[in-house]
Amino acid sequence: MRSPLIVALASLALGACQPAGEKASDVPDRAVAIDSGSLAMAKDAANALGGDLVQMLTSELERGGPAAAIAVCADSAQVRSNRHGTPGVAIRRVGTRVRNPLNAPDAADQVALDAFAAAIAGNRPLPDTAFVVTTAQGTRELRYLRAIRVQEMCLACHGNPDSIAPAVRSVLVSRYPEDQATGYSVGQLRGAISVRINFP
Ligand code: HEC
Repeated sequence: MRSPLIVALASLALGACQPAGEKASDVPDRAVAIDSGSLAMAKDAANALGGDLVQMLTSELERGGPAAAIAVCADSAQVRSNRHGTPGVAIRRVGTRVRNPLNAPDAADQVALDAFAAAIAGNRPLPDTAFVVTTAQGTRELRYLRAIRVQEMCLACHGNPDSIAPAVRSVLVSRYPEDQATGYSVGQLRGAISVRINFP
């Protein structure tokens, strides 16, 4: 998961990922150079959020197993994610199939997710990716995305529904009636950490 930073613009098949009718402002602008300060800021935020969530998950799993961990996760994942934002820096997790609709990728996130999925399918390395997009308001922002892949310990809550414990399933049904984030297997792309930074 800690892949080296490469600004992998070349690997983003931009034109191919733009569905008809998509706003041009939603897709990466490859011509814009990215300064190392902004990149470092984005990387720090991604490291902090990634470390925080993994630590929360592992300590809760050790403490009370998946049934206890999922309650904590459901209550605090959003708050914890937002806490790693600072003025001018927004951070969240996005999913390939989401449990919480707040984690749905937008068009720019989706470009990166598609590139990550293609890299996994092609058995290629999975570096973090960064690009600049123009927002609907005409401002620019840096996007920095880090792939999140499924590990063994994720399956208790994201694996085959038949092997998810009843206590976990009942939390999913009550808290996430539109849950789509089950049926994953180890190694698959689960989503990404997505950082957005105001860009001059
Ligand atoms: C104890 C149950 C549990 C385990 C184990 C678990 N998750 Fe989740 N996961 C959740 C819950 C609950 C959410 C929804 C959080 C929210 O409301 O934002 C979630 C959301 C996510 C999201 C955001 C996208 C979405 O679907 O909403 C990602 C990405 C994610 N999990 C990755 C992982 C990975 C990777 C692992 C293993 C390292 C993992 N999860 C293990 C319960 C779990």
